[in-house]
Amino acid sequence: MFYEAGQHKEAGFPHDPFKALVVPRPIGWISTLNDSGGVNLAPYSFFNAVASSPPIVFFAPNGKSRQSGVKDSQDNAERTGEFVVNLATWDLKEAMNQTSASLPSNEAEPEHAGLEMIPSKLVGPPRVKRSPVSMECRYLQTLELPSSSQDTDNFVVFGEVIGLHIADDLIDAKGMVDITQAKPVARLGYMDYAVIESVFSMQRP
Ligand SMILES: Cc1cc2nc3c(=O)[nH]c(=O)nc-3n(C[C@H](O)[C@H](O)[C@H](O)COP(=O)(O)O)c2cc1C
Repeated sequence: MFYEAGQHKEAGFPHDPFKALVVPRPIGWISTLNDSGGVNLAPYSFFNAVASSPPIVFFAPNGKSRQSGVKDSQDNAERTGEFVVNLATWDLKEAMNQTSASLPSNEAEPEHAGLEMIPSKLVGPPRVKRSPVSMECRYLQTLELPSSSQDTDNFVVFGEVIGLHIADDLIDAKGMVDITQAKPVARLGYMDYAVIESVFSMQRP
């Protein structure tokens, strides 16, 4: 089977399979501060690491446009120059999902999801207390990508990781992180998710 991008319906797919094919996508659970110092928290699965020296991550807001107002995580990261990436785990999956809701501006996502936030060390936005990994980021730049719809824009927001929190119980006696202890959740297509519970190793040739 072959179809041209944008022609999935004609090819017989009721839903675009693209996101079910680029899998699993890690979830960047982004905390930021708004103008009045309120905490914003939202998951982004168009998220990944793109460099390690220095460590650089990105998240990609889409579905809203510059004209109608970009997503809050992007707006806040651009205005304050800071964001925090929290690891979404099996135990936190329902709360993570709840923080994707569009809430009135006077309602904070962490409270809505019953999450306690605790201060970061180097940046203003706090981190999710129950998340075993959080990365404090300094905003670098936003890239605007082409969009095939008039009412939505596609952005990529980059940040440099300047501080990392790792729960002690993820670190083994040899100083290696055992990520299976955290059970990170990742996004698949449709309404599906994966959970990392086992890993295997391979040496490079
Ligand atoms: C698991 C998950 C992954 C998501 N990934 C993205 C994404 O990559 N890009 C995006 O624009 N929205 C994504 N969303 C939707 C946003 O979380 C949602 O639009 C949220 O309200 C944005 O919040 P904000 O305006 O506070 O940034 C995702 C939602 C869920 C549940």
